[in-house]
Amino acid sequence: MEQKDNKHFWWQDGIIYQIYPRSYQDSNGDGVGDLPGIIRRLDYLQELGVSAVWLSPIYPSPMADYGYDISDYQDIDPLFGTLSDFDTLLHEVHSRGMKLILDLVPNHTSDQHAWFQESRSSRSNPKRDWYLWHDGRPDGSPPNNWLSVFGGSAWEWDETTQQYYYHAFLKEQPDLNWRNPEVQEAMLNVMRFWLDKGVDGFRVDVMWHMIKDEQLRNNPTNPNYEPHMSTHEQLLPTYSTDQAEVHDIVQKMRAVLDEYDERMMIGEIYLPIQQLMVYYGIDNKGAHLPFNFLLLSLPWEAQTIARAIDEYEGALPSGGWPNWVLGNHDQPRITSRVGLQQAKIAALLLLTLRGTPTIYYGEEIGMRDVPIPFGEVQDPQGLNMPDKNLSRDPARTPMQWDDSENAGFTDQKPWLRLARSYRRFNVATQQADSHSMLALYKRLIRLRQSEPSLMTGHYVPVYSDHQLFAYLRHQEGHDRFLILLNMSPRPCYFNVPNVTIKGTVEIATHQEIEGEKIQEPISLYGDEGLIIRLDPDATL
Ligand code: NOJ
Repeated sequence: MEQKDNKHFWWQDGIIYQIYPRSYQDSNGDGVGDLPGIIRRLDYLQELGVSAVWLSPIYPSPMADYGYDISDYQDIDPLFGTLSDFDTLLHEVHSRGMKLILDLVPNHTSDQHAWFQESRSSRSNPKRDWYLWHDGRPDGSPPNNWLSVFGGSAWEWDETTQQYYYHAFLKEQPDLNWRNPEVQEAMLNVMRFWLDKGVDGFRVDVMWHMIKDEQLRNNPTNPNYEPHMSTHEQLLPTYSTDQAEVHDIVQKMRAVLDEYDERMMIGEIYLPIQQLMVYYGIDNKGAHLPFNFLLLSLPWEAQTIARAIDEYEGALPSGGWPNWVLGNHDQPRITSRVGLQQAKIAALLLLTLRGTPTIYYGEEIGMRDVPIPFGEVQDPQGLNMPDKNLSRDPARTPMQWDDSENAGFTDQKPWLRLARSYRRFNVATQQADSHSMLALYKRLIRLRQSEPSLMTGHYVPVYSDHQLFAYLRHQEGHDRFLILLNMSPRPCYFNVPNVTIKGTVEIATHQEIEGEKIQEPISLYGDEGLIIRLDPDATL
């Protein structure tokens, strides 16, 4: 990971865009997005200015968990297309100067995967040990108290072979036994299969789950559990996740990537900062980017966010590269969480912090969570815990392309209903409106990608209070930028003793002020964010 002459890798100075393939663009009228559909929209992504596209899983799957239950790691589900469509997609992405990142789901397979079919066929099958099979306790109950993220026990009884198998998610998603060297080799070869094709990297699903306590010790009770939380949160995952040996696995995966040029790995990891940092690995030989979910989990308060950023920056290992995320296919959308006005502030934050930003499809047009009527819920997490409102469907609805019927996503009934407001919130309408969210995203991306200070420069916290958050980005030999974010709906001031702000407003949420010279002290409207290009003699 050495950087010469300040040169950064594409996954450091670029911007990642996550596509949930079912919901991006349908090309064959079955109401589900597909690879040819994505190909049709690549010009849009290029124009938006993103550098890499991450696709949620596109492999053959019974779709019990919408693709996160894979029955063949080396093919494409017919719903999405063919391997030949994939090759075309990869070529088209690369010919636009972009990169392609695939989802890799190594923790578990589908119960329909040939490996599991073999494994469950008999206790003496050579693949028996590829999964986590255990006897029950003497009274016949499951081996321990571990709970499934999707509700109920994480152990499923198998009548044929009279043992339990472990599944951190659905019973249709049995966990692989990563202590088994054959499993390791098989999955590393899956990586090689896609890397040989030219794929640029992987987003690794639930990386912190991959190894579990060998002694299967019971998880302790969570003293902070509250009834609205997911049932598995009744226990702390002390023994079922984030075990020390997982880092050897991560290192092996990394070593495969290093057999190739400039390939990368993002780890999906929901852990506190200190534990998260360990996934960078010794000498940064772990995950290139352990996903940083701070912005989607913390209360939207200026001081809280400012402190968390400091803590994260301070905890990064030397040479470890930061990254930022506002949303993904498992979380409420940022616009629903903080409102449309603050979603603009969030965009400014995401695209001016130090570190690789990942945009979740639709964020750039301010898409909101769509309420899905009870009878239409698809997500197993929602269906299994119906009283807890945990369905992830609302954040997975079809991309809103235009104001035609079905928003240009499909000409048939979409697999999930569209936002009621799509005729106003869509790409085509926003492309024609210079004050739209899309226009803001485009301008932010252009600025970030043309200014070294914003793209890869240093981050310096300047000020935060209960409303305002201010920080500086700078890179030697280049213009410096001061970012001021009013994270509240009420006006506020930036008036810090001994600081002279002299500069020009480069981008503002309230555009009228763009291009204006700044005289201190600055007063900000509620929900206002400013990016100021500082004059060389400003004292900041
Ligand atoms: C994390 C994925 O992001 C989520 O969508 C999925 O349900 C679980 N892992 C299980 O694979």
